[in-house]
Amino acid sequence: MTENRIPLAGVIGCPIAHSKSPQLHRHWLKTYGVDGHYMPMHVEPEDLESVVRMMPRMGFVGANVTIPHKQSIMEIADKVTDRAKLMGAANTLIFHEDGAIVADNTDGYGFITNLHEGAPDWDAKSGPATVFGAGGASRAVIASLIEAGVPEIRLTNRTRSRAKEVALTFGSKVTVVDWVQAGNVIEDASLVVNTTSLGMTGQRRLRVPLDGLHSGIVVTDLVYNPLKTELLQAAEEAGCTVVDGLGMLLHQAVPGFERWFGQRPEVNSAARDAIL
Ligand code: ATR
Repeated sequence: MTENRIPLAGVIGCPIAHSKSPQLHRHWLKTYGVDGHYMPMHVEPEDLESVVRMMPRMGFVGANVTIPHKQSIMEIADKVTDRAKLMGAANTLIFHEDGAIVADNTDGYGFITNLHEGAPDWDAKSGPATVFGAGGASRAVIASLIEAGVPEIRLTNRTRSRAKEVALTFGSKVTVVDWVQAGNVIEDASLVVNTTSLGMTGQRRLRVPLDGLHSGIVVTDLVYNPLKTELLQAAEEAGCTVVDGLGMLLHQAVPGFERWFGQRPEVNSAARDAIL
């Protein structure tokens, strides 16, 4: 019997203490007066399957999944959405009443929604996009850019073979550019995206030559710590439209919250403040 239970959700990861998802979802629960709970859950890889199978029986309606479980959860789920398959990872689980587990990926949605919000004049079809990095986040970004109608994506990554693998998944719209040539594919781009961890507090700097930046380019960085990365600072100085990465984190959480708690939450300054 699951009636009248207070709906539970949470974020599963290992480590999990750094996750900002609990602050955000709890802010929304409070804002909308929803009778529900959202909790951080430290789950070791060997326990993932048994924990996730047990969760629907404990009153969980869904969960977010983070490092290191975003790939392995797809083997455990009963259904994986097409977009999660394309992105090669899942970050959102929905538990159906019969206990079935559906794995989805909302990172691409979060990225493109944040981009449209921060750069409303950016036209996806207006020119090529340059993407730094070919990890999990890059796949979500590329999937959403292709869906938005970007005609060409130049993908550049320190490890070229990884970029080639991504290009193979997404087909002819993605061309691979050597990491040392990254600076050469900026000037004629309409969008530049950093999906690497470079520039994050405590990580190395992004050393790509940025002299090609100009006011006709939108620049966005998935790194949100610091909020204004060196890339975004340089872009701002060159007159670019800049979009920080915090909004992606906020927007990717919206579909899960809506699905689990029946209320579409708003991404606004109060939500931003809740996780800063
Ligand atoms: P995520 O899921 O967040 O994308 P990831 O899959 O570990 O994380 O990918 C991290 C990205 O940052 C990769 O593109 C990685 O480049 P490699 O594929 O060559 O590892 C990039 N990255 C991390 N450290 C880097 C560094 N010091 N120099 C250049 N790229 C780096």
